[in-house]
Amino acid sequence: MSRPPAGCAKEIRTEAEGPVGLITLNRPSVLNALNHPLMEGLVGALEDFERAPSIGCIIITGNAKAFAAGADIKEMDHATTAEISRDPHLSRWDRVGKCAKPVIAAVSGFALGGGCELALACDMIVASETAVFGQPEINIGVMPGAGGTQRLTRILGKTRAMEMVLTGKRMTAREALAAGLVNRVVPVESYLEQAKKLAHEIAAQPPMAVRMAKEAVLKALDVDLDAGLALERRLFYSLFDTGDQKEGMRAFIEKREPKFTGK
Ligand code: HXC
Repeated sequence: MSRPPAGCAKEIRTEAEGPVGLITLNRPSVLNALNHPLMEGLVGALEDFERAPSIGCIIITGNAKAFAAGADIKEMDHATTAEISRDPHLSRWDRVGKCAKPVIAAVSGFALGGGCELALACDMIVASETAVFGQPEINIGVMPGAGGTQRLTRILGKTRAMEMVLTGKRMTAREALAAGLVNRVVPVESYLEQAKKLAHEIAAQPPMAVRMAKEAVLKALDVDLDAGLALERRLFYSLFDTGDQKEGMRAFIEKREPKFTGK
């Protein structure tokens, strides 16, 4: 491997808790501003967990005060259009969105700009009561560039997304829950624990079925209904060649718990 193991980047911490891979953003003095080394480390860790057969679900988290307050403004303030468009930074958010395994964002405190977009690139969000989501880029002369205009609009609809993006106004955790942006809102003391609980539940499911189901749900956002239904049908059929389908159905008939092997 040409790059060092992902766990070596000091801007992130990684650990595996059984079948759950945990990635913690670790620049607390700047509210986890997402600079190049952090995002490079994050993608490396994500890819390591994605490859590891023992990992069934991944969590990305920050700390109680900040998930991430955006891309690092001090890294971009001098950039020209030509420089910023050559920069590989933005593709790292795309990579998170393309992870084959489920990814949960455990969010507390600020999730702003690129931080909000990082949470939106994940599949589910567990939020603490103190979480705030926003796209404040307009206030510093730019606009969302890592998926915010697209993913927020798909979740919130045009009118609410437009207001957030054009005013930079933040959304509280409760508002985010009402709008369908987050899966649940829990006390700040337990947001990581709740995210882990959800991750362990998913990691206990048959991995091929999880992978196919994730792919099908994501496709629903991109294609028309007929194409989505056709894909779903193909993926459904493909699962009948897995041992876990045989085991799952046999266990139901035999009135016992299934033992999934990922085969
Ligand atoms: C670099 C940042 C930062 C950021 C905070 N800091 N956000 N540094 N980039 N995005 C740093 C501050 O400079 C400060 O460092 C330290 O973190 C603490 O921040 P304070 O502002 O002192 O904290 P507070 O008063 O509590 O205010 C918190 C805040 C504010 C409201 C979140 O920091 C803020 O508005 N941050 C910027 C939010 C933002 O505009 N995000 C979008 C960025 S653009 P020092 O050294 O002074 O102590 C973006 C584009 C995405 O994300 C597209 C992909 C590339």
